[in-house]
Amino acid sequence: MSSNSINVLELASTKPVLNVQELAQSGEVPKRYFRPEAEGNPVAYGDDVELPVIDLTKLLDPELINQEELSRLGFACREWGFFQLVNHGVPEEVIEKTKDDIMKFFKLPLKEKEAVKQLPGHLEGYGQMFVHSDEQKLDWGDALILNTQPFVIRDIRFWPANPTTFRDTLDAYTTMIARVADCLYRLMAKDLGVDPQVILDSFGREQLQAVRINYYPPCKHAQKVLGLSPHSDGNALTVLLQANDVDGLQIKKNDKWFLIKPQPRALIINIGDAMEIMTNGKYKSIEHRAIINMEEERLSIATFHSPSIDATLCPFPGLVNAEGELYKTISVKEYTAEYFSSKLNGKNALESIKLRK
Ligand code: OGA
Ligand code: NI
Repeated sequence: MSSNSINVLELASTKPVLNVQELAQSGEVPKRYFRPEAEGNPVAYGDDVELPVIDLTKLLDPELINQEELSRLGFACREWGFFQLVNHGVPEEVIEKTKDDIMKFFKLPLKEKEAVKQLPGHLEGYGQMFVHSDEQKLDWGDALILNTQPFVIRDIRFWPANPTTFRDTLDAYTTMIARVADCLYRLMAKDLGVDPQVILDSFGREQLQAVRINYYPPCKHAQKVLGLSPHSDGNALTVLLQANDVDGLQIKKNDKWFLIKPQPRALIINIGDAMEIMTNGKYKSIEHRAIINMEEERLSIATFHSPSIDATLCPFPGLVNAEGELYKTISVKEYTAEYFSSKLNGKNALESIKLRK
């Protein structure tokens, strides 16, 4: 990578592995996909606990701001690190078109999908991530990984030309999602008692946005494989859209896996490691994973928002109490490079820079 590149997807690579969608069709499940730990943790059925649901329209007008809703947002970020966002203002047509085009892309024959295949040494394109050894266990899923913001780092070679509307659809969707993220940052600033401008300044001039579009094929041994290994996201804020009606995202809460059941049209928002560092641990970046369905495929699009590659991860002013900083100060570039260079493993990346318990 050139020294002034702002492309985080050039910071690391991944070892090429088999295409899981093809593997699923062949009916074969190689040993490397069997995960003894997949069945290990107890699963909570969520009858007694509900993932917080935040209504963005109740928070939009700064004059009429609904204090109760703002406290709910703060509670969700501090206690859950995850919430569902409803009435987020992204038009239904945009959401539906996004789901549709994603599905159409993954339904193409392998050869056509491979027109946007990852190139050696980069993460952008159709492939996988986080594979660094030949022994490592593998996730039961394929992905399309793309930079979306800033505009100058879009590499259109990796944006599918088929379906023909894909590029425009992704552009419209991610532009609107960036606005939602920006709006949430301002509200979080309010909850944290920090000037929103301070957050924007700390994030730097060129905030980054990238997507990972996940395709999880069905598997006859669904209980014994994982779509995506347990991890926390390395970035600041993630917006996830479940792109078909199959559930599979689980978050770790009180040492149990808790299945997220998104309301139709809701966006799932989660706090990432960068935000946990910058709020000095007030907001939590929660471990989550994707499980597999025995009969049905599952699709999702995760949109990751991150501070500029040249920004520094350290607490926002005013959030450090007498006990001091919870994490070592680190640049976005260094943290991301480290994050992409290791296999996904719970909160390992964040733990490795923790200064105290
Ligand atoms: C991710 C992620 C979960 C899902 O892409 O980082 O956590 O449900 N995805 O696909
Ligand atoms: Ni994630």
